[in-house]
Amino acid sequence: MRIRHNDKVSLTASGTASRLDRQQLLSWYRRNRARSAALFDLVSERSYYSRPISLRHPIVFYEGHLPAFSFNTLVKRGLGKPGIDSALEQLFARGIDPHESQAAADTSLRAGWPSRETVRQFAAEADRQVIDALADGDIEQPNHPLLDRAEAAFCILEHEAMHQETLLYMWQQLPLEDKTRPADYRPLTTGSTPLQTWIDVPAGVATLGVNPEHERFSWDNERPQHRVDVAAFQVQQHNITNADFLEFIGAGGYRDPQWWRPSDWSWIRDNSLTHPQFWHRHDRGGWMWRGMFDEVELPMAWPVYVSQAEAVAYANWRGWRLMTEAEFQRAAYGDPNGHERRHPWGDDAPVSAHGVFDFASWDPHPAGSHARGASAWGIHDLVGNGWEWTGSVFAPFPGFAALPSYPEYSADFFDGEHVVMKGGSSATARELLRPSFRNWFRPRYPYVYAAFRCVRPS
Ligand SMILES: [Fe+2]
Repeated sequence: MRIRHNDKVSLTASGTASRLDRQQLLSWYRRNRARSAALFDLVSERSYYSRPISLRHPIVFYEGHLPAFSFNTLVKRGLGKPGIDSALEQLFARGIDPHESQAAADTSLRAGWPSRETVRQFAAEADRQVIDALADGDIEQPNHPLLDRAEAAFCILEHEAMHQETLLYMWQQLPLEDKTRPADYRPLTTGSTPLQTWIDVPAGVATLGVNPEHERFSWDNERPQHRVDVAAFQVQQHNITNADFLEFIGAGGYRDPQWWRPSDWSWIRDNSLTHPQFWHRHDRGGWMWRGMFDEVELPMAWPVYVSQAEAVAYANWRGWRLMTEAEFQRAAYGDPNGHERRHPWGDDAPVSAHGVFDFASWDPHPAGSHARGASAWGIHDLVGNGWEWTGSVFAPFPGFAALPSYPEYSADFFDGEHVVMKGGSSATARELLRPSFRNWFRPRYPYVYAAFRCVRPS
């Protein structure tokens, strides 16, 4: 592989020179591909054409989608190179579902999907060409719609990292016997439930979004940067734990429509839901947590993972509410001197002592067990150990413009039907832990690694 030595030098708005670091891009791509391969190796061959979550594609799709998206975006669309296999590129790019479009009579699980060997051959060729492009292609071209500041390269790298979290929460729904536990892994179920307190956050300003000139890459929904006034509020120091949420269940919360928004109540009633997706009742009574590789007695100190609908119902029952996106931003990144930080704990790069992220664990850790990651106000686990549901609808910032390398990434979801999550979970790559990063889901999607805490007036 050749590394060019005449890469362009570009200037950021602050005037500092930034050089395209191809070795960094290559090592990130290889790290991504190795991690994806390891994640696919966790699941049994017989699961390959199954859909662990019925609303999503079968597993086979994702093994093809990751290299196809990278190849299509960087090599084919960015650099204008010819394709490898147009049928596979289309299948894995758009996610056309063969179950719906082909062979209605074919009832086998595999119906319409290629063999794993075919997928892997395609992936190997796509990888080869993407790696060549990252090493030696003209991937940084000023004013090019996809290649300005190497946008397409960063887009594919973050895309794969984000999908790895999607894969993990899909694997979470597979039967335990269809997954191979990594050697020596045991969930960290010990730890006492933290003492919950309220923290005062005074009125101030929060920065939402990012100036793209100050970040090597950002998604369209993070732009443009703007500042908003945030009124004073009180926020819980810790996430709501399983122990806390058990009280809501014990009080009949899932049977009482007064705590639920009407559409959420219809969802609870129509599906006869009585508890979070991650919980189930033990045959002999009591509650179990369905972990990645184990069923364990409900760890009371873990943050409860729930849908936003369940989080809102809990908050209503208590007479509180969820944080807004701007309140999260102030709680996580603001400080009493009116400054803002890169991370809740300060400007140091994320390490495992700061929280549970970057694939540090297959399951949550007890709430409040990473004190070094607390924010300037002393609030724990705002980044890591589960995304934080907010009460804010996912919407474009004023002046939004779609990203040329992936125009549908955000715009398809500005429908008022999705809500913002902030922070990160155990399965969120460290490269995504920037203050402006936004995630979003439908409020009744119960599968994600998402926790919450409540706020109330000061
Ligand atoms: Fe994707």
